[in-house]
Amino acid sequence: MRKHIVAANWKMNLLISEGERLVQEILKEPIELKYNQNVIFCPPFTHLTSIAKLLNDSGKTKFYLGAQNCAIQDSGAFTGEISISMLKDIGVRYVIVGHSERRQLFGESNELIKQKIDALLTNQITPIFCCGEPLDVREKNNQNEFVEKQLEESIFHLKGAVLANEIIIAYEPIWAIGTGKTATTDQAEEMHLHIRKLIETKFDIEVANDVSILYGGSCKAENALELFANENVDGGLIGGAALEAHTFLPIIKALN
Ligand code: PGA
Repeated sequence: MRKHIVAANWKMNLLISEGERLVQEILKEPIELKYNQNVIFCPPFTHLTSIAKLLNDSGKTKFYLGAQNCAIQDSGAFTGEISISMLKDIGVRYVIVGHSERRQLFGESNELIKQKIDALLTNQITPIFCCGEPLDVREKNNQNEFVEKQLEESIFHLKGAVLANEIIIAYEPIWAIGTGKTATTDQAEEMHLHIRKLIETKFDIEVANDVSILYGGSCKAENALELFANENVDGGLIGGAALEAHTFLPIIKALN
């Protein structure tokens, strides 16, 4: 049975004190998450230790810590990099990989993303694998082929059981990220169904049914309920709307 998840991608935002306040405000809300629902906070690296402490001290079990990036090497002369074992040491359970900002601004390829996924899985950390097309691809109606190539080159080498249980997919159309332009409910559902069909063809129907596929891109309080109501949308990866409790809490509550 697949998990329903809301993951907060803070990107390069908030100072530690602001992040702590935000998490405290969310944790103090009496939210009853169901057995298959999780919330994941992905703050900047510098905030991980203090957010980990807040999550631990809260005693709440369905709120987890994630990071926004990782190195593929485990240690050594890689100035400026953070290894997966360092993240694990802090209590990180998830890492976002393949985010379009890392692909576009930092030149990350499908091959590098594949290597990050393999390194994370070796360390028992769950990758949140992002895929999604830019606007010009959507305008030519080539989004299905574009996303298929991303899946083929970064995650379709995995074993079915690993794909089903140890990885989360996030579909984020690039034209909807931070633009206020959300994919319509139909556009999101169509792509999520397409991804699930590709997985069914490549693996089998159980794997396709078990993998969680999140939607990301201007998901907010106003549209989360409608997006999450789709059969194939299992929650969201949230940027801007995850930076304040009053905008993030309704999105958590929209989980079904
Ligand atoms: P957004 O970002 O919600 O601000 O559009 C989503 C993301 O980039 O993960």
